[in-house]
Amino acid sequence: MKTLIVYASKYGCTEKCVSILKQHLKCDVSVCEASQAGKLDLQAFDCILAGASVYALKLRKELKDFCIQNEALLLQKKLGLFICCSTPLTQANYINNLYAPALLEHAAAKANFGGEIHLEKMSWGDRMVMKMVEKSPDFQYPHILEEEIQQFAAVINNL
Ligand SMILES: Cc1cc2nc3c(=O)[nH]c(=O)nc-3n(C[C@H](O)[C@H](O)[C@H](O)COP(=O)(O)O)c2cc1C
Repeated sequence: MKTLIVYASKYGCTEKCVSILKQHLKCDVSVCEASQAGKLDLQAFDCILAGASVYALKLRKELKDFCIQNEALLLQKKLGLFICCSTPLTQANYINNLYAPALLEHAAAKANFGGEIHLEKMSWGDRMVMKMVEKSPDFQYPHILEEEIQQFAAVINNL
């Protein structure tokens, strides 16, 4: 099965998750940043796995735009959707606010791969936001959830 992973990452966490995902997939996998996906012949793939990090309750714009522009095509393909973020798995519905309902319904696999916060890599503005967010009593620094990535890959491997 020819599979394409399309992703958007700001500070590299989603990119890291994509490389872990790729290791667990048993199909023929290509990887592409969402901003470059227009250069590919998407029809050539049987399966598309799309994912991005979340900032201020929104998916990275490049991936959001990719999903909007290619919604009809994505609905014809085997599909997986994922997010990288600091929202914990206890908020199981979080992903449902981030992708179009039709894509969510069509997707064979949906997952939250967790996230990472590296203050030293961030822009001044993002660091200031994080400094405020981390003061919230409920906030916990996220980490990459390898088990979620493995389970997502297992579903795709069985398609
Ligand atoms: C300024 C800022 C805003 C963020 N907003 C959210 C958010 O709204 N929801 C969430 O779950 N995580 C949020 N996060 C956490 C990121 O999604 C998380 O750090 C992710 O792993 C970043 O991945 P990337 O390096 O691939 O961009 C935010 C992080 C920063 C720095």
